[in-house]
Amino acid sequence: VEETYIMIKPDGVQRGLVGEVISRFEKKGFKLTGLKLFHCPKDLAEEHYKDLKSKSFFPKLIDYITSGPVVCMGWEGIGVVASARKLIGATNPLQAEPGTIRGDLAVQTGRNVVHGSDSPENGKREIGKLSGSRKENYVNGHQFKHPG
Ligand code: GTP
Ligand code: MG
Repeated sequence: VEETYIMIKPDGVQRGLVGEVISRFEKKGFKLTGLKLFHCPKDLAEEHYKDLKSKSFFPKLIDYITSGPVVCMGWEGIGVVASARKLIGATNPLQAEPGTIRGDLAVQTGRNVVHGSDSPENGKREIGKLSGSRKENYVNGHQFKHPG
């Protein structure tokens, strides 16, 4: 079964939107496979967004993602990667359709509430990164679920 990595960004956590975001994925019918509250260190944030390293907004993006705790989640289901991207909406919340998370809940690209993997390969990679050997990736003694 396909799995994706969904992360509620610091603005979403600070604004109290954790329940709202989780509820949308639950109601759609996807299955939660792992969850933790996590303060992402700078090096892991840079690794996560490494494809955007050359962009002018990259330093601001890393400051944003490391500015407070995020909620890291694994979700699985048929076609979950593409479906999650639809539920989340366009990168710029002003262009995101009403009914999507960003379309309903945000106005700024640099404060767009949630991340979703853009391919099944990246879903696996991003969840794998999170379940690595780092001590902070363990919650209550249980390792964050690794696919397969
Ligand atoms: P993610 O799910 O977070 O990966 O967003 P995305 O796939 O919709 O967009 P992309 O991967 O291209 O960019 C990653 C993140 O960088 C975005 O979600 C934004 O938070 C941020 N970002 C992208 N473009 C801009 C920009 O032009 N300005 C600023 N300030 N941030 C940007
Ligand atoms: Mg992306």
